[in-house]
Amino acid sequence: MTKPAIDPKNTFDDILKNETDEALANPENVGEKDGVRPKASGFNFDIKPEELEAYLNQYVVNQESTIEVIATKVCTHFNRMKLEGTLKEEEKIVGNIKSNMLLIGPTGVGKTFIVKLIAKKIGVPFVKADATKFSETGYVGGDVEDLVRELVHEADGDVSKAEYGIIYLDEIDKIASSGAMHGPDVSRTGVQRNLLKLMEEADVDLKTPHDLASQVEAAMEAQRTGKVTRRKINTRNILFIVSGAFSTLDEIINKRLNKQSIGFDKAKIGIREKQDLLKLVRTEDLIEYGFESEFVGRLPVYVVLNELNEEGLYKILTNKYSTVVLGKKLDFKSYGIDLKFTDEALRILAAKAHQEKTGARGLLSVFEKALIKFEKSLPSTQVKEFTLTKEVIDNPQKELRALIIDSSINEFQRSFLIQHGVYLDFSREAVESIDGKCGPNPGDAGALCEKLFRDYFHGLRLMKLEHLTLTADAVDDPEGFLNRYIKENYHGN
Ligand SMILES: Nc1ncnc2c1ncn2[C@@H]1O[C@H](COP(=O)(O)OP(=O)(O)OP(=O)(O)O)[C@@H](O)[C@H]1O
Ligand SMILES: [Mg+2]
Repeated sequence: MTKPAIDPKNTFDDILKNETDEALANPENVGEKDGVRPKASGFNFDIKPEELEAYLNQYVVNQESTIEVIATKVCTHFNRMKLEGTLKEEEKIVGNIKSNMLLIGPTGVGKTFIVKLIAKKIGVPFVKADATKFSETGYVGGDVEDLVRELVHEADGDVSKAEYGIIYLDEIDKIASSGAMHGPDVSRTGVQRNLLKLMEEADVDLKTPHDLASQVEAAMEAQRTGKVTRRKINTRNILFIVSGAFSTLDEIINKRLNKQSIGFDKAKIGIREKQDLLKLVRTEDLIEYGFESEFVGRLPVYVVLNELNEEGLYKILTNKYSTVVLGKKLDFKSYGIDLKFTDEALRILAAKAHQEKTGARGLLSVFEKALIKFEKSLPSTQVKEFTLTKEVIDNPQKELRALIIDSSINEFQRSFLIQHGVYLDFSREAVESIDGKCGPNPGDAGALCEKLFRDYFHGLRLMKLEHLTLTADAVDDPEGFLNRYIKENYHGN
């Protein structure tokens, strides 16, 4: 008998290392595939539910009651595993009922976001996939066991680490069956069955049965080194979190409630909001929706996420960890432009995003729409700072033109000051007049000023002026303006 590479008693110490808060401060780092790789020593999984809850609430808006449940169950799951190694025989009989979770909620309300943050905070390998990509046989699409192998990959090949990972499956509602006896429904039921085995406890081969080359390689490696590397991974401690939008589940719940109640109550039930209905979900509703009872049985925790209203979306934007705002700032920063937002603009964008009905995802598209013209044009200008205001949102073309004209004039002002030591100021009307003269290309404003005021420095030097404000008159008739100015001021001295 060969000893496993890692002593199971130490496994947890090896695996779960609490990441420092500094490393976690930036949720930008929470990528699709970045299972955090804990260091091999110094395990201290002593995160308490309230600590994880507080951590998640820093980033996630409007999901307090959901986070309360998720944080608690995730912590209990990992603490239970920690305890396991120390249990007496009679205690072991109780068995391990895992806190696999089902998250129900529409698009863009934070399902994936929450799970990623948890994996990051706890520091376990993490894999995310859509349930739709699997088929019963694994010939078309993938085999659910691939998820477990992927977890090993995320753990840099360390099977023991992977055995404490988190697998997150989205679009789980799409593998519900409508009860037909043939066609895709049968396969969906098959996927549920395959999944439920993993969700409870199963040994998964590290090499796929079809992968002959790697099987041979492993055998040769064993012959050469005399060591047999672990070939299987056990799923009993892997936490499964599944999620979906469950678009018609509220109708099923409503029907059940209506059946249960009579007369007066019935009317009351009829007017319930979708969200309130979903919160009453029971196992039987999920079975009615098209899940095998054994599958639902492996998901003891249900959580319903809130939809995000306008205020919620605004709160996301003003959250100091807001990935939408930070991301957009970085886009502009990559061109050396400091992007800012007024509070009023953020409120307008939140309201627009709410109309999109795609939760926080709407924020992204609304931001893109509001900024795309600026993101295109400003990098070719001298503009180094740009504030998104209500006016910019309402009238982007006009504001963009004004911005470019200002920057172009600015550039002229600077070079005139450097060359001649005189600061030329432009009145509002002067700028408007330049705007009128420079045609379709506002970036020409500086060159136009150059032409108009080329000869000014002689007269200005004569008067030893350091500062001169130019009006619309100056733009319309530069020579006449300067002559009048000299006459009025120079002779007057
Ligand atoms: N409640 C929230 N608080 C803060 N940010 C959020 C919230 N919900 C979503 N976001 C932001 O929107 C992004 C997209 O959300 P997420 O991926 O979690 O959506 P989802 O609920 O998984 O939706 P889908 O069903 O479309 O996958 C997140 O990365 C995050 O930046
Ligand atoms: Mg998602």
